[in-house]
Amino acid sequence: MSEITGPAAAALASLCSDDVIFLQSLPKAELHAHLNGSIPIKTILELAQQYSPSSAQTTEVADTIEKLKSGVILNDIFDFFSLMPAIYALTSTPEAVVITTRAVLQSFLNSTNDGVESPQCTYLELRTTPRKTTHMTREKYLTVVLDEVEMYPATQAALIVSVDRRMSDLDVEECINLAIEMKNRGRRVVGIDVCGDPRSGDMRSFTQHLSRVKDAGLGLTVHIAESTNNTTEDSLALLSCRPDRLGHATFLSDELKALFFEDIPQPGTECSSLSESELPNNAPANGQYKPCIEICLSSNLLCKTVASLDAHHIRYYLKNNHPIVICTDDALPFGTSCLGEYSLLLAQPPLGLGLSRDDVARVAQMGIDAAFSRPRD
Ligand code: IMP
Ligand code: ZN
Repeated sequence: MSEITGPAAAALASLCSDDVIFLQSLPKAELHAHLNGSIPIKTILELAQQYSPSSAQTTEVADTIEKLKSGVILNDIFDFFSLMPAIYALTSTPEAVVITTRAVLQSFLNSTNDGVESPQCTYLELRTTPRKTTHMTREKYLTVVLDEVEMYPATQAALIVSVDRRMSDLDVEECINLAIEMKNRGRRVVGIDVCGDPRSGDMRSFTQHLSRVKDAGLGLTVHIAESTNNTTEDSLALLSCRPDRLGHATFLSDELKALFFEDIPQPGTECSSLSESELPNNAPANGQYKPCIEICLSSNLLCKTVASLDAHHIRYYLKNNHPIVICTDDALPFGTSCLGEYSLLLAQPPLGLGLSRDDVARVAQMGIDAAFSRPRD
């Protein structure tokens, strides 16, 4: 397992060895991990050695590697996206995608500690955006990734296909068609994700494609309300597709939570600032709509979308007994691991949330229950 740094490392270092053993032995599902954000630094350095780029890219790649080695410091969430072009330069051929995917799967599922097998998680739903480069088509990219994922039993690994908010309508359609075709061919695609820079894209035009996902038997998860730039209209468009899981949901308003989640108490009941015409047909939710919230503590702290653990929205969902899953998001830039993220639950404040072992075990089980590989309800 790669060295961890930052808040997760501080929380882990504060735990007694019994607590660490408890966390290591807890069955855990990692449901929100981006392939190109989860590459071990050792693999990045190997890829960099084999890389023969144009001179413009050389400097960018070298600068980004330096930042990743010394611990990335971000001013805000948008800084995070500036790391990706250099990583993408290193993973632009099918051969590099094989190396990358294999290393990421191993880092989550085969890690050892002092020679003792101690996987970070018991089940991994890895996600990635099918990328077209001069060396491969999106289909080739996905095939290569799936070949690696399928080396593991279905009880251990599966793939979510991401679409990026920056994509054109046609590209989103192509990616979702590909995911559905792959699933129908028996490949291990279990869901669709919407990710990417929260400032870009019009989610109202994505919904026509996202609404086909569930009928195809795939799960749907969306990054939602990740930054203050995300508007109510943006969140409404995404919620109108009734995603099974929500990534971050940091700035989801109380009004939208009350409107959509049947278990959240309604503050003033009626929806004051939203006009009827703004509401999607299926709001308010009146069935059992409890989308699991994918919580990425280190990611939120380091991207500065959340000021402290004390102010983190996880507290709200724990208090309301709403399903959550604890995830790493991008283990490489955020210097974390599944163990690191769970340490943030168990460590005493201010380094962690100070949950009891029973509560941590309950949270871990909620994550397992939220996996897309379970038969869809
Ligand atoms: P990939 O899909 O395997 O290429 O993983 C990297 C991509 O995941 C990035 O280019 C982003 O589009 C997306 N991503 C990673 N972390 C985040 C996040 O916190 N918010 C939104 N998108 C993200
Ligand atoms: Zn993410």
